[in-house]
Amino acid sequence: MRARRVALIGFGAIAGDLAAALLAAESPVYGLGVLLRPGSAARERVPEPVALLSDAAELAAFRPDLVVEAAGHEAVRSVVPACLEQGLPVLVSSIGALHDAALLARLTDAARASGGRLILPSGALGALDYVRALRAAKALSLSYESRKPPSAWREELLRLGHDPDRLDGPVTLFSGTARDAAAAYPQNLNVAAALALAGPGFEAVEVAVICDPQATGNGHAVAAESEFGRMRIEIVNTPSPTNPKTSWIVGQSLLAAIVQHFSPVIML
Ligand SMILES: NC(=O)c1ccc[n+]([C@@H]2O[C@H](COP(=O)([O-])OP(=O)(O)OC[C@H]3O[C@@H](n4cnc5c(N)ncnc54)[C@H](O)[C@@H]3O)[C@@H](O)[C@H]2O)c1
Repeated sequence: MRARRVALIGFGAIAGDLAAALLAAESPVYGLGVLLRPGSAARERVPEPVALLSDAAELAAFRPDLVVEAAGHEAVRSVVPACLEQGLPVLVSSIGALHDAALLARLTDAARASGGRLILPSGALGALDYVRALRAAKALSLSYESRKPPSAWREELLRLGHDPDRLDGPVTLFSGTARDAAAAYPQNLNVAAALALAGPGFEAVEVAVICDPQATGNGHAVAAESEFGRMRIEIVNTPSPTNPKTSWIVGQSLLAAIVQHFSPVIML
């Protein structure tokens, strides 16, 4: 079986975990390229067999079977459109960027016109299959609560005048719709955006963001109620050892999505 060619955009906490897992895979074997920004310090950490790509033209010349964005919202705006226009499938981890309706429409149109595909993984969350099935519900309420320790919110707490190392109790950083949440906290609220896109849309998901000194990990609680029944899920993710804002599971979620992408058997 020929090697599957995967081009990564960015090489931070998630892409580093993902690259290690893909390079260790035996069937199929993966050939990797990574697009880095000019002068990126991440270059030092990229392992030997991975091709270094410095711009969109080099990425296209690498002829990937799949592109994986694990870089941030700016990369979804600046790099992903060209990939979709070339007809490539693109797995986007920075789902929160899609709260921008114009960007989502641009990416969707590009994929439709070229035969490319915008692929959205579960990331730090689960149960998106159930939420997708609720789309037809007529009486749906869907809420999401993020509860992370102060280490995930240091800059935001300082900006609000709190000392992250001496927080007495939980601080509610945000309460509102998924659209406003994803715009306010782009790096942290990819999960709210994933729920909104799977289900009833950005205005219909109620979001609360809580910084809790008692939190033992990155907590996600989702509650759905409709004529079809009730769902409650709670996930407490271990923060990535290299980026406390990111849950460690996300690299594994992308790996699972990539395995599905190339598999003859798909579980949705
Ligand atoms: N879907 C989810 O559940 C979920 C969860 C966590 C994070 N994320 C998303 O994944 C992204 C990456 O997370 P991370 O923890 O690996 O972040 P990170 O900060 O550890 O790494 C991101 C890397 O991408 C690089 N980068 C940024 N823009 C780039 C560009 N245009 N071209 C090439 N490289 C670029 C940065 O220099 C950095 O090295 C986050 O920004 C977030 O949007 C999604």
